[in-house]
Amino acid sequence: MLLLTAIELSSVFIISLLFAYYLYYRYCFTYWKKRGAPQLTPTFPVGDLSTAAWGKESVYLRLQTLYHKFKDAGHKFGGIYFLNGPIYFPVHPDLIKRLLVTDFEHFVDRGMYIDEEKLPLTAHIFSMKGEQWKNVRMKFTPTFTSGKMKSMYNILVQVSQHLIKTLDPVAEQGLEVDIKELLMRYTTDIIGSTAFGVDCNSLDNPNTEFNRMVAMIFNNPSWKLYKMALEEGLQNPGNIIKIAHDNKVVQKYFNDLVRDTIEYRDKNNIVRDDFMNILMQMRSTGMEFKEIVAQAFLFFTAGFETSSSTMSNCIHELAHNQEIQDKLREEIHENLGRESSKYTYDDVLALPYLDKCVKETLRKYPPVAMLNRICVKPYKIPDTETVVEVNTPVIVSVLGLHRDPEYFPEPLEFDPERFSNSNKIAPFTYLPFGDGPRNCIGLRFGLMQTKLGLATLLNDFKFYPSPKSPRHLAVDPSTTTLVFSVLNGVHTKIVKV
Ligand code: HEM
Repeated sequence: MLLLTAIELSSVFIISLLFAYYLYYRYCFTYWKKRGAPQLTPTFPVGDLSTAAWGKESVYLRLQTLYHKFKDAGHKFGGIYFLNGPIYFPVHPDLIKRLLVTDFEHFVDRGMYIDEEKLPLTAHIFSMKGEQWKNVRMKFTPTFTSGKMKSMYNILVQVSQHLIKTLDPVAEQGLEVDIKELLMRYTTDIIGSTAFGVDCNSLDNPNTEFNRMVAMIFNNPSWKLYKMALEEGLQNPGNIIKIAHDNKVVQKYFNDLVRDTIEYRDKNNIVRDDFMNILMQMRSTGMEFKEIVAQAFLFFTAGFETSSSTMSNCIHELAHNQEIQDKLREEIHENLGRESSKYTYDDVLALPYLDKCVKETLRKYPPVAMLNRICVKPYKIPDTETVVEVNTPVIVSVLGLHRDPEYFPEPLEFDPERFSNSNKIAPFTYLPFGDGPRNCIGLRFGLMQTKLGLATLLNDFKFYPSPKSPRHLAVDPSTTTLVFSVLNGVHTKIVKV
């Protein structure tokens, strides 16, 4: 009897607690309304991202839906909720321009998780804040000039020749291949070599220790994010980064890798044209060992999947658009010849049709499908009475913009001519590399490895559709990285030219 009463009492206590929690959320969900901002109907307990939280839909598709809900109702922005936390969500290009460029001083930071002591891998330029970010960004800017890119170009040529050798036997037999998986190995080898100075050799052997680490960083189930968010009461989607970096094995692996490389180079006076060499030189400006590890780690994570998915998504579209593929190959053969090992940096980057095809791929499948910032200074949204408070996260749906029929008619069509000189793209509707002072610093490197990889592949091979991949590639709903990751790979049939 006494036991029953105890059970009853604790049930009542739990139910009351849940109810109080529910009422508290209901109260939180009035935040935007009270500030005169348009909002939707957020649900307990995950706010406006419910379908994404339960793994039913990718967070990028959910944001695209939210983008249209506000825009189609005639709003220039909306207020949304992640759990019970408010997020400012601009959808009009003018407000997006203000956020990224004109009023940048209010939104200098991204609000990503960063803890130099507990998780040193998080202390990189993508997460850094305020003055510290400004200083490091200034130091890094000369690292990404076209001169520096050219000096690394030879490493890329070697890896792209290796890629051809790996694909040759497949193409001889006209087989199908998951080109995404293969190109991830291509970019792993390039960035492994340029950022860490190691020969990952994942094109030959996908099961190296390096690749095991990569899997640990990127293959995390989405429920982990929500579990962490709920446990820690975190309301900022920027904390997504903590999942990938909160791993002692990964931390130790990259620490040891960088320490061994630096010691070896110092001892043997080795100077190589790569990012690691530039990072080592920065020691004279006060950069510490753990900072070097974090930056190298970021170059790897920021550069490997963004570029490989751009290449594989482009191949997929070319497989479905044979005339475009033939036209592009013709441009490559006419201007660069048939010996891809001799293609130069300047010549590859100067191909206009290749440029249009890459731009159109980045439009249809933006690898970073949302931009994020956090408010660091109170901000009155222009022409409204709504003030965005300090520490409010901000999200821009890049997928929403890129697939908005008003800016890009028939958005699922792959049409490189959208980027011809005669067709003007409306400002701040095309943002594959973000914009403003905090845009992608690795843009040149990303384009270099993407364009060289594509030119080399198209020189030697023809690509055809595979029934294993849908016509329009779908986003993996379980992705916990910031990258638009395609579900079930990108399959294509490949034959020699
Ligand atoms: C096709 C390839 C790539 C795409 C589409 C891409 C896209 C992006 C985007 C959208 C952002 C956020 C910009 C913003 O918030 O306004 C970003 C930031 C960044 N990217 Fe990339 N990226 C690519 C390749 C690379 C590569 C190869 C590297 C390095 C080697 C790199 C390094 C970075 C860094 C360091 C940042 C943070 C910059 C800062 O906060 O100051 N990216 N990238």
